[in-house]
Amino acid sequence: MTITLDMSNAFSDRIGSHGLDRKILNENIAVLDRYNKDLAAAPYPFMRLPETRFQFHEMNILAETIKKKDIRNLVLLGIGGSALGTETIFNALLHPFHNYDKEIRREKPRYFIVDNIDPHKINAIIEIIKPEIEKTLLVVISKSGETPETISQFMIFKELMKKASNDFQERIILITDKEKGILNKIAKEDGYRTLNVPDGIGGRFSVLTPVGLFPAIVMDISVDEIMDGAQSMFVHVENKTGMDNIAFTLAATLYSMDKQGKSIHVIMPYCERLSGFADWFRQLEGESLGKGGNGPTPTKSVGVTDQHSQLQLYVDGPKDKCVLFFYSAQDKRPIPDSFPYLDDVAYLAEKDLQELFHAEFQGTGLSLNDAGTPNFTLFVKEISSYTLGALFSLFEMVIVYLGVLYKVNAFDQPGVEQGKIYTKAIMGKKGLEKERSKIETLSSFSKTTITF
Ligand code: PA5
Repeated sequence: MTITLDMSNAFSDRIGSHGLDRKILNENIAVLDRYNKDLAAAPYPFMRLPETRFQFHEMNILAETIKKKDIRNLVLLGIGGSALGTETIFNALLHPFHNYDKEIRREKPRYFIVDNIDPHKINAIIEIIKPEIEKTLLVVISKSGETPETISQFMIFKELMKKASNDFQERIILITDKEKGILNKIAKEDGYRTLNVPDGIGGRFSVLTPVGLFPAIVMDISVDEIMDGAQSMFVHVENKTGMDNIAFTLAATLYSMDKQGKSIHVIMPYCERLSGFADWFRQLEGESLGKGGNGPTPTKSVGVTDQHSQLQLYVDGPKDKCVLFFYSAQDKRPIPDSFPYLDDVAYLAEKDLQELFHAEFQGTGLSLNDAGTPNFTLFVKEISSYTLGALFSLFEMVIVYLGVLYKVNAFDQPGVEQGKIYTKAIMGKKGLEKERSKIETLSSFSKTTITF
């Protein structure tokens, strides 16, 4: 399997003064080369996952037992790093309209990833699954086991399942830390089966654990291939030096761009199947690096759709952006000569949509070049379980290296945790009276209400 990183449109010798300075890039890559030697001696726990195939045996046995129960719906409760990995895997590897058609999904269940608590969405999901509630598998995912969104969703769905059948516990699986957190207490009390998130691996680095892999197994996706791809990328990253190491080049580029005033990192897949991956990376980059008043702002656009939404801004707006394209186009669809009497559309007739897709991608790159907006592309030959695994590990490593360059701890998220504390305080959780009184003293002094 091949992926190619094309940096041609990133450098100042191609696109002018806003481009990447080779000297700065090389200095940052040299920092990573030195760091990699220490990292090899003490890798982060998530880097060893493909080798250890953590809990594969348990996951496979559990999935086999569940499949015998004629499950029609998979409902996944979780948020942030506990949901985005599965979203990414399903977006890349399942049919885009999986839920709509029995013929398309064959024996596989429909799926609902409940990554929000907006009652509008929750009510709609309940409306759909209620007639088949006793054929529904509930997978509740929270590393901390304490996240209010996930726990409240669980309270709602548990009640529904309990009302519908006596053996509802058989169809609820919890994925959480091996001992800490409320979900473990609930599992013991109510008798649910659990899978674990290994020690030292937080939400956004957990896609290669049961968090991302168990739902994939339920959907018959080859998690062995995902892990093989991830493993071969970790080997690349551990062994290559300088610009031969794709993770170094990407991390040093993104960092150098920020330092050159391009703090907005646009992630723009020309590949619908990598749209979820862009969301996954947006969280990984934002939550890992946004610390101490620094950090890039990742944003997502999808080609070609967002050419007609954001491209104007990228070309002619403030010079504070660089664009990371992903390009992959496997599928074809011929364009027939439907209007032979029109010269104006003759350039499209008898071509293939793939050619147009590629031309649009090239056109976007060229217009960015003309405007001096640095852009670089990762060409992914084929979207498969294997390449997806490789992309996960590549970009996890990019973030590790970015953490080194920014000199931040890429693995914590104090800002998110503080938000969770305030939420619990507002809702009246015991022990958070101090936070609650702080909130109560805040009065709103600038409000405008209109009636129309
Ligand atoms: O990456 C992270 O650590 C976060 O995005 C978490 O995944 C998110 O806050 C949910 O936390 P938990 O998995 O503990 O419910």
